[in-house]
Amino acid sequence: MTKRDIITLAIGLAVVLFLWAAPEETTPRLPSDDTHAEFHILFQKQGKKAAEKFCKDCHGQEGMEFPKDHPDPNRCLFCHKANK
Ligand code: HEC
Ligand code: HEC
Repeated sequence: MTKRDIITLAIGLAVVLFLWAAPEETTPRLPSDDTHAEFHILFQKQGKKAAEKFCKDCHGQEGMEFPKDHPDPNRCLFCHKANK
């Protein structure tokens, strides 16, 4: 492998990592407040699916509608990361 190959690889890798990391930056995380504390625990003990079941008890209800540009609200924790 020449030096040039390594540089090309490094740049390619940097682009991939950037694209991969970018969406997460703008997506709000699962808040670390009292309201959401139990879901952090549930997530740690039983995983995403177990915790997600309860999100729509509040979110999406009257007075707490999703923003117009919000993606299809399922599998919340794939986008809204729970762990720090
Ligand atoms: C008991 C009602 C309730 C439940 C259940 C609930 N939330 Fe929330 N959530 C709120 C309220 C109230 C707010 C706004 C104030 C705050 O941040 O706590 C909020 C805010 C948020 C925000 C916005 C944070 C921000 O920075 O704008 C996200 C993301 C969120 N919740 C995700 C979730 C997910 C994912 C679940 C399921 C694991 C969930 N919530 C379950 C009441 C709830
Ligand atoms: C495909 C990714 C994705 C999924 C799945 C998803 N969200 Fe979001 N959510 C986002 C993004 C991106 C934003 C920020 C952009 C926006 O405000 O529309 C957001 C914003 C929010 C906010 C903040 C809204 C505000 O008024 O600031 C809440 C609350 C929220 N999501 C809750 C949820 C809940 C609850 C679920 C599951 C039922 C969920 N989301 C599923 C990507 C997602």
